[in-house]
Amino acid sequence: MSEIALNVNGRSHRLDVDPATPLLYVLRNDLKLNGAKFGCGLGQCGACTVMVDGQAVFSCLTPAMLVEGRQIKTVEGLARNGGLTALQQAFHEHGALQCGFCTPGMLMAAADLLAGARPTREEIVDMLSGQICRCTGYEPIVRAIEQAATS
Ligand code: FES
Ligand code: FES
Repeated sequence: MSEIALNVNGRSHRLDVDPATPLLYVLRNDLKLNGAKFGCGLGQCGACTVMVDGQAVFSCLTPAMLVEGRQIKTVEGLARNGGLTALQQAFHEHGALQCGFCTPGMLMAAADLLAGARPTREEIVDMLSGQICRCTGYEPIVRAIEQAATS
């Protein structure tokens, strides 16, 4: 076990963990931030996606020690001043979720994409190839991200 310092959603934490522990486990088990989900644990479904220094990463494949001192953002830190972001609002308006299991990962991956130049539909679809939704179907998700890109 080692002590590591993590900054998550703007808050600093010191934790005793096995440094090789995946970030996802630290977020869920130690910090009780259950937004990021365990889907496959293999980097294949995107359910565990969070941001590190503004870039979407699969937290199931990211050792906690590698993100020490970096800015980690989970879906719990996405809303600003208690209000939904345009992206979250667009998901709501387009019914872009059913069970919601994939939604935190979808939102974080989409937020990364939207931080750059306005994405094309093809770029949105390409991004979603790394994010699996088992129930909604992708069209409402694509439309929600397109709407957020124009707001
Ligand atoms: S749980 Fe990380 S990619 Fe599936
Ligand atoms: S809304 Fe159920 S897995 Fe995507």
